[in-house]
Amino acid sequence: MSRFPKNRNLFRHANWSASHKRSGWFIIGNTPTAKKLVVGLFTSLPNFTMRFFDAFSGIGGFTLPLTKAGHECIGFSETDKYAEQVYLSHFPTHKNYGDITTIDSTKLPDFDLLCGGFPCQSFSIAGKKLGFDDPRGQLFFDLCRIAEAKKPRLLFFENVKGLLLHDEGRTFLRVLRTLDGLGYDVQWQVLNSRHWLPQNRERVFLIGNLRGTPRPEVFPIERNFRFTFPKGYQALAFKDDECRHGYTWNVMNCICASYRGYPTGRGKPALVQPDGRMRKVTPKECERLQGFPDDWTACVHEAHRYNGLGNAVTTNVIRDIAKRLS
Ligand SMILES: C[S@@+](CC[C@H](N)C(=O)[O-])C[C@H]1O[C@@H](n2cnc3c(N)ncnc32)[C@H](O)[C@@H]1O
Repeated sequence: MSRFPKNRNLFRHANWSASHKRSGWFIIGNTPTAKKLVVGLFTSLPNFTMRFFDAFSGIGGFTLPLTKAGHECIGFSETDKYAEQVYLSHFPTHKNYGDITTIDSTKLPDFDLLCGGFPCQSFSIAGKKLGFDDPRGQLFFDLCRIAEAKKPRLLFFENVKGLLLHDEGRTFLRVLRTLDGLGYDVQWQVLNSRHWLPQNRERVFLIGNLRGTPRPEVFPIERNFRFTFPKGYQALAFKDDECRHGYTWNVMNCICASYRGYPTGRGKPALVQPDGRMRKVTPKECERLQGFPDDWTACVHEAHRYNGLGNAVTTNVIRDIAKRLS
């Protein structure tokens, strides 16, 4: 049974919430500290609670900000045992439904929001770009199968920017047409993590809402602020395997899922310290660049930490998009 209120605008606009705020003032008092307390109390609570399913959960890049905002995870789907290990170390009560291709949708509880950063290698410029011809590209249709069966009110998907341009736009058109056929209106935007944290990471975010239900105005999100490194630090990105060509920047290039073979290896970003020494970013720095708390991935080996963090979404971006879903 979905807990989503039928008319969610009640929670947003009605005097109901204003009068509760007023009664809060009344009870606690009118000093500046009390004001902060009351405002903090009411603004930290979500306008409503959504039940969500985190498909392709990885290390919990969707689950972390959504549960922090008070939403309830009814389950997740992940096949990588190390990603699952990290996820469960923080959310031990959540149920992993495993391989999405084998999920029987009728066995899933009802939910309001379906999240999914579906595997992106088949659309990524770093991969072979086989798109839907790649079995990994097909996983998008498993998300759709679940959406069709469960009809959640909202979809929240993420992928590489390359999804938009793949096969001259035909792949993205197919995504939109498929979701349209399932009854979802879709809005999307490419957002760069560097407006939240010092990492250049461009991703496309899609929000679908079931036709006939209230449509949240999520995009565009305008953020002009650009993060840069502290003074003296620089990022270094190589363009070729022999490190002959590269460039420096005041923001980290998109972090990688693997640092095997570092410092060679095309595109692997490195950090130049104020003393001139060059080194790879540490897993903890990757956690910070993705908005996870320090040591979020510390329960697994370093290689798996890089892998999970390089595949993850930037949690700050998810948090701010989710705020607009109310
Ligand atoms: C792009 S990553 C998503 C990362 C996640 N959003 C996060 O923030 O950590 C895709 C994830 O899908 C998982 N995956 C791949 N095939 C899968 C399948 N058939 N069923 C469930 N998960 C799968 C991968 O192991 C990987 O962790």
